[in-house]
Amino acid sequence: MNGLLKGKRGIIFGALDENSIAWKVALKAHEQGAIFTLTNAPVALRMGEINKLAEKCGTIVLPADATVVEDLEKLILDSVAHLGGKLDFVLHSIGMSPNVRKGKTYTDLNYEWMNKTYDISAFSLHKTLQTCKKLDALNEWGSVLTLTYIAAQKAFPGYGDMADAKATLESIVRSFGYYYGVDKKVRVNSISQSPTMTTAGSGIKGFDTFFGFADKMSPLGNASAEACANYCITLFSDLTKYVTMQNLYHDGGFSNMGVSDAIMQLFPGEKEG
Ligand SMILES: NC(=O)c1ccc[n+]([C@@H]2O[C@H](COP(=O)([O-])OP(=O)(O)OC[C@H]3O[C@@H](n4cnc5c(N)ncnc54)[C@H](O)[C@@H]3O)[C@@H](O)[C@H]2O)c1
Repeated sequence: MNGLLKGKRGIIFGALDENSIAWKVALKAHEQGAIFTLTNAPVALRMGEINKLAEKCGTIVLPADATVVEDLEKLILDSVAHLGGKLDFVLHSIGMSPNVRKGKTYTDLNYEWMNKTYDISAFSLHKTLQTCKKLDALNEWGSVLTLTYIAAQKAFPGYGDMADAKATLESIVRSFGYYYGVDKKVRVNSISQSPTMTTAGSGIKGFDTFFGFADKMSPLGNASAEACANYCITLFSDLTKYVTMQNLYHDGGFSNMGVSDAIMQLFPGEKEG
């Protein structure tokens, strides 16, 4: 299907390199006719990779630390000005835990770093939504999407304080989704994605092993970043106008599994009879 996002304007947060989920979303959104700005934290922009993406998508890159409201205000106003009108979609594809990154386990957290984890990985969504709402920057039926992980619902050792941040993130989706829905018919959803080989993903201890486990546990196998991008496009499109305040699993069935035959085969155990 072509032109699903024709005439739509947006902001895409979080494309760091070509493995990033946001990178794939930008390419697909461009393919489907959307216009948008790209943004990332100033420190991430220093890598310079994102400029290649901007060139491919015929757009500009605007720096913004998503934890700083003044940065968000400028980003949103500049995006509206550059794109020539109010926005129809926002992708919030941001996550980082200093504790996870520096190898601090869940039972030995540094609480200053934990605040950072929350600020970057959860509160930044609230700040983005609140700033968009105050500036009245989103059109009616606009769509805001964030990326999350099932460690918000179930225990996944190694995911550390990111699990708590994701649980908060998903709660913000519901709470803000209510207010934005009532006031402006804007929808807010999270996509709970399979483990994916990206910078954020592979920062988790034992990620490679876990990636294989999730793949064997999921009837459809792990969902790729590209497949995730396709799902994002449908949620930005007018075909999903009444979906809001949801946590949507995009995980090949993982979230509803107890155990799979493929996993059982790894543990043959005692033969009966
Ligand atoms: N990779 C996985 O296994 C997986 C699974 C489920 C959900 N997710 C989620 O998907 C989202 C995107 O991650 P990804 O896997 O594409 O990895 P990624 O590392 O490519 O993207 C994370 C992005 O967050 C940005 N970021 C960090 N701090 C920021 C700040 N202060 N302001 C603005 N941007 C900031 C980084 O620069 C980076 O671009 C994250 O929310 C992540 O938790 C990832």
